[in-house]
Amino acid sequence: MATSDYRIVPLPHSIEPQKGSPFILTASTGIVYPRGNESLRQTACFLAHYIQETYGFTPEVKEGEAQPNCINLVTDNTEVLPEEGYLLDICKRNIVITARSGAGFFYGIQTLRKSMPVTDQKKLCFPAIRIKDEPRFRYRGAHLDVGRHFFSVDFIKKYIDILALHNLNTFHWHLTEDQGWRIEIKKYPRLTEIGSKRKESLLNDGSGKYDGTPYGGFYTQDEIRDIIRYAADRYITIIPEIDMPGHITSALAAYPELGCNGGPYEVATSYGVHKDVLCVGNEQSLRFMKDVLSEVIDIFPSRYIHVGGDECPHDRWLHCPKCQALIRKNNWKAADGHKPEDRLQSYFIAEIEKFVNSKGRKIIGWDEILEGGLTPNATVMSWRGTENGVKAAGEGHDVIMTPAGITYLSSRQLEELDGNRNIRRIYDFDVVPDTLSETAARHIIGIQACLWSERINTPQRAEYLLLPHLAALSELAWSDPGQHDFNAFMERLYRLIPIYDKNDYTYSRQVFQITEDFHVDTVHNILEASFSTIGQRPIYYTLDGSLPDTSSLLYTGPIQIKKEAKLQAAVITPDDTSDIFTEQIHVNKATFKPAWLANPPHKDYTFGGVSTLTDGLSGNLNYNTGRWLGFLKDMDLTVDLLTPTQISSVSLTVNVSKGAAVMDATGLEVWCSDDKKTFRKLASAVYPVLRKEDKDGIYTHSLFFTETQARYIRVIAKVTPRLPAWHMWPGNPAFLFVDEVCIN
Ligand code: ACM
Ligand code: ZN
Repeated sequence: MATSDYRIVPLPHSIEPQKGSPFILTASTGIVYPRGNESLRQTACFLAHYIQETYGFTPEVKEGEAQPNCINLVTDNTEVLPEEGYLLDICKRNIVITARSGAGFFYGIQTLRKSMPVTDQKKLCFPAIRIKDEPRFRYRGAHLDVGRHFFSVDFIKKYIDILALHNLNTFHWHLTEDQGWRIEIKKYPRLTEIGSKRKESLLNDGSGKYDGTPYGGFYTQDEIRDIIRYAADRYITIIPEIDMPGHITSALAAYPELGCNGGPYEVATSYGVHKDVLCVGNEQSLRFMKDVLSEVIDIFPSRYIHVGGDECPHDRWLHCPKCQALIRKNNWKAADGHKPEDRLQSYFIAEIEKFVNSKGRKIIGWDEILEGGLTPNATVMSWRGTENGVKAAGEGHDVIMTPAGITYLSSRQLEELDGNRNIRRIYDFDVVPDTLSETAARHIIGIQACLWSERINTPQRAEYLLLPHLAALSELAWSDPGQHDFNAFMERLYRLIPIYDKNDYTYSRQVFQITEDFHVDTVHNILEASFSTIGQRPIYYTLDGSLPDTSSLLYTGPIQIKKEAKLQAAVITPDDTSDIFTEQIHVNKATFKPAWLANPPHKDYTFGGVSTLTDGLSGNLNYNTGRWLGFLKDMDLTVDLLTPTQISSVSLTVNVSKGAAVMDATGLEVWCSDDKKTFRKLASAVYPVLRKEDKDGIYTHSLFFTETQARYIRVIAKVTPRLPAWHMWPGNPAFLFVDEVCIN
């Protein structure tokens, strides 16, 4: 008999095992909801459906009082439970879910569902338990951009199912973009007739070429109403976003009179920030937007309407007679770091906010709406880092944290992190920074994942970027930070994944690879290599360059490496073998020895600190991996070889990426000492400042000298003092990225 495990994602608030025998679920178990409660009947049917999906039998759904051998939904009349909270009591006799709201019951059944193992067995054991649960945040969201690429109604419903599985309660639907207007507006039919179609799309291969294929799609108001109902049944609110006054080329293509120069405009075929924006100086623009929002508000019952506000360049406003006339009329001047055109943006958003408020709704905007003075009741999505959100919360605005570096699951930067590093980056995010006062902290109302679709042109790819990262985000949104534990989370995630498989959700298998961690122990002069992967799956490794198999060493804890080795490892199970992890460890006289730096690296490029330079591990072309240290002052390293040692050469590597101000060394010096006090120079060289035509890449510099015996070796690599005249930022400081310093 299979047994359920209540340690699920997101982790419930409290799980208290109870004395007594377990509840046994079989084909004869029923589900009971309170008499006449139609919405709980629906919730009971969801549970019956989940059980059917996994076990092949459908429990009978019936109304009435709580009964034995049943899963009972019982309304809480004491009002002690929080709005979305629930109690789940399981004993031999029955299962009881108690909640105050429909949402509470819904999360209770999600917990039951996720606790049940995916198995072929027809009998299921539920150990006696009391679970008390409630969410950390009231706003738990995921966003989808359907402007850059369009997604079908069926996929939107699948997306909503995925959010429900992760206890999220908000779907932020980004419906309009430069590249496509996706919502039918009856009063302005050309928005979809013209604005939903583009003549071709930029290819994603970096070639700068276009595919030559017309692209389009939109949702009718009936389709949207159907999706809203579908989401509401799953206790998910849909917040529509109509992005303004920027990101609106598609609307200008349909109604060119709304742009500053009258067009003609085309629906955008490339991505990025487009300069053609709404002419805010034209009263007709405001009327148009109010008309659009009236229809949007009629369709969407959500308390919030998202009005965008992001990335609106001022180029057109600067040269537009209407926009400039509005600035003069209001006597808007440059002040407090704001330009008059910032006031155009804040004026427009304020007018829109008044309108939305007059309809009994509230606005949300991206954090640019803080610029030029924020409107009074607006809620802010902090996407350009967290600082804007912290500031807005301090000023009393509600804030949803969506920092691009963490919660933009579509970002290339996140996608390219390997092993579990991307999911860990999300899991370790501190949603409510300590710097906030208690009052300000209460204004952080939640967190949201965002999927921007420039690089997402199929539903499978959307799912792949969403999962399983959304699981980490859902735990930030739902569970108490005090309960957060990454390794325990990964074990729970491992048990969630069969539900993804069962539902045909595509997901990234990165977490099934090996994630490595290296640590230099300069006391014992060794390198410690640690491995992790998801699940209790065996990792086998070799140190001699042979390919690992099940006869290789089984990983049981940190591996201690003292000498030259080629470390290879793989997760090997009867079903599957991971990618082979490979690392060459090079050992020279400095490797694993104590060392210190006279000048610290830049704080953003300190990573593991000084031992990075003598850890036997080499950096690759990416200077951001943690294998390179980045300096703005000379790298000035002293290594203690521990005993007087014969040496005759020193070499090091420098990573050059000229466009990023990452330059070569301009000199190298080697000194030695026996007492750490008086040093004598062994060798030095001067290197020319890089020229424009010099290549990016890894440069090696070596100095050879007469064999000498010494204990302390000081190596100085000189930075480029100022970026040269040919550089984009002449005169600015330059970085020096150094890796392995070898002494032989
Ligand atoms: C945004 O990413 N432009 C909100
Ligand atoms: Zn204008």
